Amino acid sequence: LKAVAIVPAAGRGERLGPGTPKALRALAGVPMLVRAVHSLAQSPSVELVVVVAPPEPVTEVRALLPEDQLGATVSVVAGGVTRQQSVRLGLSALPDQAEVVLVHDAARPLVPVELVDAVVRAVWAGADAVVPALPVTDTVKAVNAQERVTGTPDRAVLRSVQTPQGFRRSVLEEAHGKAADGPQDSTDDAGLVEGLGVSVQVIAGHEEAFKVTRPIDLVLAEALVARRRAGTAR
Ligand code: C5P
Repeated sequence: LKAVAIVPAAGRGERLGPGTPKALRALAGVPMLVRAVHSLAQSPSVELVVVVAPPEPVTEVRALLPEDQLGATVSVVAGGVTRQQSVRLGLSALPDQAEVVLVHDAARPLVPVELVDAVVRAVWAGADAVVPALPVTDTVKAVNAQERVTGTPDRAVLRSVQTPQGFRRSVLEEAHGKAADGPQDSTDDAGLVEGLGVSVQVIAGHEEAFKVTRPIDLVLAEALVARRRAGTAR
């Protein structure tokens, strides 16, 4: 059961602080993007990884990913201004024969291989779109522009979604094709697919697939790397 993966990595990552693009920042000595690509390439179901790199250092990104050490073919293309554009650029770089496509954030460097495999399996089992998700732990409020609460959705029906998200290629292409005309940027590929009226399947996510967004997430990620090194994680 094979798949190709698109890794959007072209974001600035401003919430993490100023400096290098987020995907190129080191996590215990290794750039996040390199860790994310390794995590995907470890899966026997992933045969090609298309990295959508920050436009500036595309050649540097290529040099960070020597294929002989990876276990999957890796290609690198330049990204866009928004995540949605970056994913579309990744899609246009896929080989004709790819049928199942994963989209995985470079900012989720520690995704376990079991989760990657589970998403691919669910698409091959017949789902058009698959998202891994976890229950929401905080209560979530809806607010208006004045920061007044306008509602409190029932937490039991909310999920926090992760990547890799998996798609039948034709469905993801159609969704991005339609969205290209719209004004809005989507940070979630499954959301675009929902816009087509296609049903999206949720599978159990994994705590270690969390996104490194804020400085505190780096602390957690480094602790997890140290725990894995010590051999106590799995
Ligand atoms: O900003 P956020 O954390 O939601 O970004 C999620 C992923 O999308 C990151 O891996 C980021 O590098 C990527 N991205 C991109 N192109 C952009 C913006 C974000 O590839 N223009």
